[in-house]
Amino acid sequence: MNNKQLPPGSIGLPVVGETLAFLLDPQFIQKRYKQYGSIFKTKIIGRPTVFMIGPEAVEFVLSSHFDHFSWREGWPDTFKLLLGESLFVQDGEEHRRNRRLMMPAFHSSALARYFTTMDAITQGYLQKWEQKREFIWFDEYKQLTFDIASELLLGTKPGADSVRLSQLFDTLTHGLFALNTWTLPGSKFGRAIAARNQLLEHLASVVRQRQQHPTDDALSLLVQARDEEGNGMTLQELTAQSMLLLFAGHETTTSMLTWFCLELGRHPEVLQRAREEQLHLASSGALSLEQIGQMPYLDQIFCEIERCHQPVNGGFRGVVKPFEFNGFYVPAGWQLLYSILGTHQLEEIYPQPEQFDPDRFGPQRQEQKPKHFSLIAFGGGPRICLGIAFAKLEMKIVAAHLLRDYQWEITARQRLEPVLIPTRRPKDGLRVCFTRFEKN
Ligand code: HEM
Repeated sequence: MNNKQLPPGSIGLPVVGETLAFLLDPQFIQKRYKQYGSIFKTKIIGRPTVFMIGPEAVEFVLSSHFDHFSWREGWPDTFKLLLGESLFVQDGEEHRRNRRLMMPAFHSSALARYFTTMDAITQGYLQKWEQKREFIWFDEYKQLTFDIASELLLGTKPGADSVRLSQLFDTLTHGLFALNTWTLPGSKFGRAIAARNQLLEHLASVVRQRQQHPTDDALSLLVQARDEEGNGMTLQELTAQSMLLLFAGHETTTSMLTWFCLELGRHPEVLQRAREEQLHLASSGALSLEQIGQMPYLDQIFCEIERCHQPVNGGFRGVVKPFEFNGFYVPAGWQLLYSILGTHQLEEIYPQPEQFDPDRFGPQRQEQKPKHFSLIAFGGGPRICLGIAFAKLEMKIVAAHLLRDYQWEITARQRLEPVLIPTRRPKDGLRVCFTRFEKN
């Protein structure tokens, strides 16, 4: 490579670099994008880091130059220690083999079987909320999505254990962004490791049970899956992958559902149109898998939620082969972060990006269409989110029931500004007053 010019940017203070600004300034990326464009350098978590923003840059990382980047070398040590030897930190042949083994649990035939359970658990929560009348939705969604994930993925029925396990995940999630991996008693990371140990113990015992008596849950499919050589996953591998699925399967969905309810609470005209679509469908029968595919306006709303409120702000990678992008050279060994948040806020793709406007995804405008990798809350390329169809099905079931039968009011005196880490949420979690919707 002739041109060895590193990307523009500042590496900040000695040792810490720009870590604090990255963690604390919600405008960190947008400010630097304005100054430097779609690639800039900085230093975070002690490593020289390059940020890549915008559809072309993201396509470069996730698709066309995929083999230049490693997940294992990218995600901070906290992730590797807490999420273990799972798909999330695997690369190359090991990753391909395991993703292939896990795929059947997320195929459309498996999803069709999941519909009834998702629907039944959702209806149970709706009745509970109707009785409660006032609650914090983020906390409730955590429990709901955890119940769905643990029943469908592990075959564990919701019950007393499920509250405890979901709290352990909460503690673990807070450790993912700890600034160090010190396990002093009482430290954020120390508590996260203790939670991880309890979760692993529980999951290993569930895996052993499924190995002896497979049922029809996703874990049983994993237990029975075999690669080309006829080998299956070991107890340790199965436990780590189950941990990842359970973690990935509920934190993110909770976030998007909470923002869905918040934005509809703020935009009565959007809620009204979405409700009309649902009431029209409801006139031909109860919610079904077939109906799920007939909700174009609800799809637009979820695209806009995905754009404005991506639960995951970006993805880390380690640069394993040097590369050149837009005339700038990045050496192997650097850390890379592709930005979902920054890409979704680009004015040249989404005019007035700060406005919530589901019509940008309507048939007339389709603002995401001209460029691939413009709407990327689920990542993209060969390692696009494994649970994308699972998550979308679950969120549409919840949304359809809410719109058909319920109304909610956002209560006064609460903080709704977004907190970005560990997953995006309104600061106070969205307290609402919830009642049945009276149809005329
Ligand atoms: C709204 C819900 C969800 C969002 C926004 C989301 C987002 C993402 C993103 C952005 C990635 C890629 C990260 C990167 O490129 O570094 C990812 C990967 C992944 N997600 Fe999701 N996810 C969601 C739900 C789920 C669910 C329900 C499951 C499983 C039940 C799941 C399992 C996974 C797995 C296993 C990966 C790693 C895939 C691989 O490396 O091959 N996700 N997700």
